[in-house]
Amino acid sequence: MGLMHILNLFSVLSLQLLAISANLETYIVHVELPESYAQLSTASISSPNEDLDRWYNSFLPTTIASTNEAQRMVYCYHNVFKGFSAKLSAEDVKVMEKKPGFLSARPQRMLSLHTTHSPIFLGLHQNSGFWRESNYGKGVIIGVLDTGIEPNHPSFSDEGMPPPPAKWKGKCEFNTPVCNKKLIGARFFQDGNGSPADESGHGTHTAGTAAGNFVKGANVFGNANGTAVGVAPHAHLAIYKVCTTGCSESDILAAMDVAIDDGVDILSLSLGGSSVPFHNDNIALGAYSAMEKGILVSCSAGNNGPFGSTLSNDAPWILTVGASTIDRQIRATAVLGNKKELDGQSLYQPKDFHPRLYPLFYPGLNQSDTDADRYCTEALLNITQVKGKIVICEVGLIPPTSKGTNVKAAGGVGMIMINSEQEAYTTRADAHVLPATNINYADRLKLIAYLESTSSPVATFSFKGTIIGDSHAPAVASFSSRGPSYSSPGILKPDIIGPGVNILAAYHESVENSTNTKANFHVLSGTSMSCPHLSGVAALLKSAHPDWSPAAIKSAMMTTADLVNLAQNPIEDEKHLPADLFTMGSGHVNPARANNPGLIYDIEPKDYIPYLCGLNYSDWEVGRILQRKANCKAESRISETQLNYPSFSIVVGSTIQKYTRTVTNVGDANSIYRVKIDQPGGVNVTVKPRILSFSKVNQKLSYEITFTPLSPYKTPSDGSLTWTSAKYSVRSPIAAQPEVVTSA
Ligand SMILES: *[C@@H]1O[C@H](CO)[C@@H](O)[C@H](O)[C@H]1NC(C)=O
Ligand SMILES: *[C@@H]1O[C@H](CO)[C@@H](O)[C@H](O)[C@H]1NC(C)=O
Ligand SMILES: *[C@@H]1O[C@H](CO)[C@@H](O)[C@H](O)[C@H]1NC(C)=O
Ligand SMILES: *[C@@H]1O[C@H](CO)[C@@H](O)[C@H](O)[C@H]1NC(C)=O
Ligand SMILES: *[C@@H]1O[C@H](CO)[C@@H](O)[C@H](O)[C@H]1NC(C)=O
Ligand SMILES: *[C@@H]1O[C@H](CO)[C@@H](O)[C@H](O)[C@H]1NC(C)=O
Repeated sequence: MGLMHILNLFSVLSLQLLAISANLETYIVHVELPESYAQLSTASISSPNEDLDRWYNSFLPTTIASTNEAQRMVYCYHNVFKGFSAKLSAEDVKVMEKKPGFLSARPQRMLSLHTTHSPIFLGLHQNSGFWRESNYGKGVIIGVLDTGIEPNHPSFSDEGMPPPPAKWKGKCEFNTPVCNKKLIGARFFQDGNGSPADESGHGTHTAGTAAGNFVKGANVFGNANGTAVGVAPHAHLAIYKVCTTGCSESDILAAMDVAIDDGVDILSLSLGGSSVPFHNDNIALGAYSAMEKGILVSCSAGNNGPFGSTLSNDAPWILTVGASTIDRQIRATAVLGNKKELDGQSLYQPKDFHPRLYPLFYPGLNQSDTDADRYCTEALLNITQVKGKIVICEVGLIPPTSKGTNVKAAGGVGMIMINSEQEAYTTRADAHVLPATNINYADRLKLIAYLESTSSPVATFSFKGTIIGDSHAPAVASFSSRGPSYSSPGILKPDIIGPGVNILAAYHESVENSTNTKANFHVLSGTSMSCPHLSGVAALLKSAHPDWSPAAIKSAMMTTADLVNLAQNPIEDEKHLPADLFTMGSGHVNPARANNPGLIYDIEPKDYIPYLCGLNYSDWEVGRILQRKANCKAESRISETQLNYPSFSIVVGSTIQKYTRTVTNVGDANSIYRVKIDQPGGVNVTVKPRILSFSKVNQKLSYEITFTPLSPYKTPSDGSLTWTSAKYSVRSPIAAQPEVVTSA
């Protein structure tokens, strides 16, 4: 169970709610069709899915079937794999295991949910450039698997929207006719409380980020004021509510199963669990079937950074999105008694705050307990010590707004939320209930030095509102999950980064400030927020290039990504150090460049078979992903790095490694590309041929790349390979890691 991919919602304790009784659990069951089934179903008059469902039901133990079979069967799956989910006891499963066609049954996991300004930050401008060329995403359907939607929000108005494409087969399961040409579908699943309505706000926010329509004067309590708009404002939205407080795998699979039939083009999932082998990863299984149907699946990387190998959703047929900052800050400055000003952020910007000096109190000062959540909990705040003071609290797992509520309840007048070394420079603008700010780690050290320099420390706040122009942006957020991928270290993950810190987008009307004004926009942070930005960019690309495969769209975004920040320095991480490739992947998405990439690295569904066999999965495990029998002995096996991926992740041992890549010309017919290599330290990289001459559009040419270790290879190092023509630059990052020598 990972952290929600949004940092504001933390109740992940929902798993227990699902179990109906102590001994019944929802199992996900895989079955194998009998050889005779194909003829059987085509010969049948009734729909093949009904036949399939009847057969699935035959797996339920007869004692169940006779009593409450309908309640035991949860979902019958048709697209994502052959199988179903059902409420079963361990004994039921034992009985089922003996039936012919049974493959496996596992209890489901609960997964967690991991902008006025961000489209402009991405270079999207009204009436010009890529937005105009892509018709703002016209004709494309984005399916969002999340907490549902607030349908009456102005972001989902259908002004200027065409009707849904003819292929659309989805449903609107609201009781009132709230769906329209923007919000073309809304469905809910088992755990959805009987409606696709969004009780949390998370799903409204992610849907609004991907494809919200233009809303003028959007702001949260006067902050971040501007025109709110999603990345693909004229794309259609199809909502699949699969999460309440957590997201059950059986619901996620059911949603992907129907979304494939409904006719979505893009699937956006801001949720996930930890990395597991792909044949056990239900999102990866559903995404594989979606990819085979031409649907691009865009997922959040997770919020478990800054530590390595913390990614979710790392299959190569998924777009894995990390989170970075935008150049907007909602500034709240802590002004210390020694006149030092520490710039932080807060969404609460009271106009009536009197900037007099208040005593500072830090419950954690000189305490040996390093639990960041310990000191600002309700029980431990001592009113005698806190009353009338500005209290210093630490960023931890408990949401900052809850700590602020505790401080206020104990009579505190304000709060300074201090980052640990881990969060470094990533600060958040939260909807606090009292004057507050979140300062970075460098400023925390200045604050502590001040506390230790005086017996009567004092401070106040200066609220400065929305400030545009942070030249460190985009910088990778501390929480953004990092590679290398645990399940497939030979594929460089995350793929890309996009805006995910302090993002303003649509929200249901639940955020109130202290003067009881409600806002229907909200500022949230997480890879949950960056994923729908990339889903929106994918929709724009799909609209501009309807024939591009999911892999082609990924390649276009990855090979054209930005590598520098607004100050023209290499993109930085949360510590303001150059971000490595396992932190930022190919770089920061640049939508306009992605529209015209020159060359693409395409992958067809069948290309994944030798890759999966090469991961040493058994025929059975590969078959589970492909949903048909696999025979790895008859297939070629390739190493992970041989997959035609637009980036490289190599493990350098003592041997020479050779791979081939094939690029497709989607630029000018006659174009000549020359290779430019930036070698990772300690590895000699050679490419043959060094020139690729194309004479036709869609022509494919291959090259061979050889990695030769130069000396005993010890430290990870980054490099790149770029094909450049007069007009284009097609860049693939190369991440090189030393081989881990395990002593037997
Ligand atoms: C609450 O929001 C309203 C409307 O945006 C704003 O005028 C007011 O100043 C806000 N109050 C506080 C304390 O932020
Ligand atoms: C937001 O901006 C618009 C246009 O510039 C302006 O008319 C409106 O008053 C602003 N609203 C707030 C709350 O600042
Ligand atoms: C905290 O510890 C530092 C050094 O360890 C010391 O200089 C300072 O006086 C202590 N402060 C308090 C309030 O005890
Ligand atoms: C609260 O702080 C006061 C003053 O420092 C102290 O006398 C009192 O014992 C504290 N109360 C608790 C419950 O710790
Ligand atoms: C698969 O097995 C082969 C042979 O044992 C080994 O060389 C290779 O490294 C393995 N691949 C992976 C991805 O574990
Ligand atoms: C890298 O390999 C090429 C071809 O084998 C060779 O010409 C070149 O000298 C090598 N470079 C280094 C730094 O060893």
